[in-house]
Amino acid sequence: MSAGHNVEDWGAVHAIPTYHKAPASPRTAPFGTRERPLPLIIDSDPGLDDALAIGLACASPELRLLAVTTVGGNADVHRCTENALRLLHAYGRDDVPVAEGAAGALLGSVVRATEVHGESGIGNTQLDPAPTTPRPEGAVALIARLLAESPEPVAIAPIGPLTNIALLLREYPRQASKISHLCLMGGSIGEGNTTSSAEFNIVADPDAADVVFRSGIPITMIGLDVTHQALLDREATASLRATGTRSAGIAAELTDFALDRNREWSGATTTAIHDAVAVAHLVVPDLVAVAPYHVAVDTTHGPARGRTVCDGLPYRLQRDGRTPNADVGIVIDRGRFTRLLVDAFSRLP
Ligand code: BDR
Ligand code: CA
Repeated sequence: MSAGHNVEDWGAVHAIPTYHKAPASPRTAPFGTRERPLPLIIDSDPGLDDALAIGLACASPELRLLAVTTVGGNADVHRCTENALRLLHAYGRDDVPVAEGAAGALLGSVVRATEVHGESGIGNTQLDPAPTTPRPEGAVALIARLLAESPEPVAIAPIGPLTNIALLLREYPRQASKISHLCLMGGSIGEGNTTSSAEFNIVADPDAADVVFRSGIPITMIGLDVTHQALLDREATASLRATGTRSAGIAAELTDFALDRNREWSGATTTAIHDAVAVAHLVVPDLVAVAPYHVAVDTTHGPARGRTVCDGLPYRLQRDGRTPNADVGIVIDRGRFTRLLVDAFSRLP
């Protein structure tokens, strides 16, 4: 959540105040098309912005949403699971299986963001109960089964703490080889949001994030550097409402809740829709510019715990014998992102 920047003013190269600004490079993440939709699993802690990300996936013919799995994060994991079921119901997608995952971090700590998302995880929004129930096998086993059963590799968009994904890599290494890409929301080249060093999804479980970034699986890190350009404002929520769909009304209400908090805390008139950027990157090939970085996670218990230490300087990488392990988001066209969301929600019930 931050005050707005106008990405149009930035030109092609990002303006993160760093010593080395890695230039934009070709993306490595796959993307879906209408003709060849990308099979996708979303691992999420819904969550205001998670709700918009899930809605975008439901509405995008470029994606084949195989499941939504949940993890404790923005709210208690049971609430997140209930939110996932109800959101999918509202979006007309009771066919998408939901399974509940880890309640807290690998090593036991529990970090919540209820001050941002409300105790319920979805602000004051009331959603109708869903006729569906979570799959009894649980998140990690469901992901492993879907990977094993899929005839083609599957992308995963982790948009909450990375606990389930780390457990998957440890418990089901063979199935994990079927992951085509992890397009995750988390981390930051620059400043954090939960602490000045760390972004919420990473600091909620730095040990899990460490496992994931070391895994060798192709990763795109959609961090705060780019999500703080993916801003909605009151004009955008008015556009959502103007589409007249119930789903767009829900998205507007959730976003208004975040806008109210932001105004109260910082006077800002915008709110970052972090998680939807990770999904958008899999839908629109040229919306998000990325640059290759080596990302390491600080798992110490000092002030930088949960920091994603990003190195994109070729000289240093070579000197230290490291190669980039992630594409990192650096620029997004805010106007196109807003239109993408409004159009998507206008197609939902
Ligand atoms: C991330 O933290 C959560 O609060 C949001 O849902 C998003 O995934 C942003 O730092
Ligand atoms: Ca989230």
